[in-house]
Amino acid sequence: MKRHQSLYPLSRDHHHALVSARNLDIAAEANDPDGLRHAAERFARFWESDLQWHFSQEERFVLPLLAKYQAPDSDEVRETLSQHTEIRRMVDELNNKLTRPALIEAHLLGALGESLRNHVRFEENRLFPAVETAATEEELRRMNEQLEQDRSGTGLGGCALAPKIQAPEY
Ligand SMILES: [Fe+2]
Repeated sequence: MKRHQSLYPLSRDHHHALVSARNLDIAAEANDPDGLRHAAERFARFWESDLQWHFSQEERFVLPLLAKYQAPDSDEVRETLSQHTEIRRMVDELNNKLTRPALIEAHLLGALGESLRNHVRFEENRLFPAVETAATEEELRRMNEQLEQDRSGTGLGGCALAPKIQAPEY
């Protein structure tokens, strides 16, 4: 599916999230205690520097735009928030284990990777198309400006409207 350019920053984040999910899968499959901890630490850094801000941006800029056209409890809004809550809970659990010399269980990393992958698919296949269909071009352009302004000065970013690239397939 051709993604609207206004959503490129978030789709690029999704690509990075899928790479992270894959790394969690690999560590879970290998099931080596040192490898599991290393993968957990790596993911925790990605969450801290990138993914938590991505979730926050969707909640502050994308969902409110969609909520202008859909009920606040529509499937897309409700499911996005529910999945964000579940992933935050899993990250909290992971961070909690990282503060102790506890074993990082393979099933936790595997479950987190799977949740993240399903979440990216949901947003790319359901949430983003719903926003693209409902919102006007001007609203999408304004939302992109908000995304870019909000992430300037953070590690997130780059200009979304400059490159003429096709968003990745999910
Ligand atoms: Fe997302």
